[in-house]
Amino acid sequence: MNFKNISLSTESLPQHVAIIMDGNGRWAKKRSLNRVRGHREGTKSVRDIVRACREIGIKVLTLYAFSTENWNRPAQEVSALMKLLKEFLTSELSEMMENGIRLNAIGQVERFPENVRQVLEGVIEQTRFNQGMLLNLALSYGGRHEIVTAVRRIASRVKAGELNVDAISESVVSEHLYTHGMPDPDLLIRTSGEMRVSNFLLWQIAYTELFITRTLWPDFRRKELFQILQAYQKRQRRFGLTGEQLNKS
Ligand code: FPP
Repeated sequence: MNFKNISLSTESLPQHVAIIMDGNGRWAKKRSLNRVRGHREGTKSVRDIVRACREIGIKVLTLYAFSTENWNRPAQEVSALMKLLKEFLTSELSEMMENGIRLNAIGQVERFPENVRQVLEGVIEQTRFNQGMLLNLALSYGGRHEIVTAVRRIASRVKAGELNVDAISESVVSEHLYTHGMPDPDLLIRTSGEMRVSNFLLWQIAYTELFITRTLWPDFRRKELFQILQAYQKRQRRFGLTGEQLNKS
């Protein structure tokens, strides 16, 4: 596949791409605009990246849209983010249906205001049979909280006599996370240059390839995604083995 001189092999594409969308505030500040304008512009990047991933055949795309820590931002910014999310879901539904995109949310969605939850649950419900791509929005998401919730659920199953302690394996833990049934991310991209994981998919990124770009999220569009995918295809994923062992297999 070719895009403006970037060639991608369709065979070694990541199945699951996860993105920490960072830098909306700085994008706005650089232009002396309100932070909310940065988030609004960031929504355009969300649209472009979702479309691009669907077009090239990515199976799962997870976007970190709102962390548990983001609740502590000024109330006006939090409510603007809620509004943007609602607008995005409403305006994208028909395209999601046309393109076979299934929406899912990971995180403490119950903390969201009723009006946002209703729209979110409606879109999840309407897109549930779509099979082209799974779009996971991480909303009020925190990786540690996700693990604690999984541990609690596993412990109660043990207590109820449904599960033996010795049967608790990595796959049992995975099955109790929000991402159960999904492949772990092959690729994690973070925009705006920060070298942090910020409590995102802590369990799931054990062997994920990381790419950090200095580009601020509102400036991040498909061209750069394709460049990153091209670089990803040149990396050798070793999963703890030696290069020689992999070359033999
Ligand atoms: C980080 O930038 C971004 C967020 C906290 C929110 C991401 C939200 C969007 C891209 C728009 C709405 C989402 C969807 C799915 C429609 P920041 O504010 O932390 O930037 P800064 O570090 O430069 O201040």
